[in-house]
Amino acid sequence: MQIEKELYLAAGCFWGAEHYLKQIDGVTFTEVGFANGNTENPTYKEVYTDTTGYAETVHLRYDPLRVSLPFLLEMYFKSIDPTSLNQQGEDRGTRYRTGIYYTDSDDLPFIQLALRQEATHYGLPLQVEVEPLRNFYRAEDYHQDYLVANPTGYCHLPVALFQSARDARDTATLQKAEKYTRVIKQLQSLLDGEADAIACMANVAALLHETFGFWWTGFYRVVGEELLLGPFQGPIACMHIPFGKGVCGTSWKENRTLMVPDVEEFPGHIACSAASRSEIVVPMKKGGDVVSVLDIDSKDLATFTQVDAYYLGLLVDLLP
Ligand code: SME
Repeated sequence: MQIEKELYLAAGCFWGAEHYLKQIDGVTFTEVGFANGNTENPTYKEVYTDTTGYAETVHLRYDPLRVSLPFLLEMYFKSIDPTSLNQQGEDRGTRYRTGIYYTDSDDLPFIQLALRQEATHYGLPLQVEVEPLRNFYRAEDYHQDYLVANPTGYCHLPVALFQSARDARDTATLQKAEKYTRVIKQLQSLLDGEADAIACMANVAALLHETFGFWWTGFYRVVGEELLLGPFQGPIACMHIPFGKGVCGTSWKENRTLMVPDVEEFPGHIACSAASRSEIVVPMKKGGDVVSVLDIDSKDLATFTQVDAYYLGLLVDLLP
């Protein structure tokens, strides 16, 4: 199955920004345009007056099984001066501001964490705007792939940066995808013909825990009005979690996978262990109802991204 995510990045002049971002492995589509401004159908000329509120922006789509959002953001930061307000290189004006505009609110905690981490490299506050995408208009055709059509055209970015984009590989994501593929194959034969849910959960927890070296890997089962601890690997954990509480109870309530890149920023997170710093919870459904959740914790920040959500989603479907 092909899954795709998208993001809008303002990084100064969009000619260079697109040329840089499109060369990163896993980026599947780019186009340039104007984002989060105040007029209808802006033209380049209008945006150039710097009165429309628009930022020159690259709309990109990517394959999250090849490149994660945190990796893309790391690459983005390499191409901007995040402490500079309304100026990148010699280009000045609000249209050259830096900004991260998202269309999936689940991306926001990842963006906020990346900004907090990036800020630690500077003694200055960051000027990167973070907002939901309000609007986006594709720029005129001659701005698309401008540096491909005009290889000697103006660019505020150093040429070496383009080589670093071509060389970049999100090896953590690529390796994870490979490991998950193997684990799923292994589970298909391991679980084949076994009808006991607890036995299957026990081996799934063990296999995932061993393969990936997670901090805590296990299941909570829906029993009456709460989640009750099931088979797991790792340190002792809370035994009861009410509906809607913590990451697990929220995943159950919302009937969807939750990725928490920094548990301290998740309101109501239940800290079974102070060492846990990021988490993913995947609901397991039978006939549309959640019957249990798979909960995995890591001692590192932002361990779990779409690649985990995707494969763990396939994996829980193998359980009886
Ligand atoms: N942190 C979870 C509770 C379970 S433990 O992490 C094992 C939560 O907030 O739901």
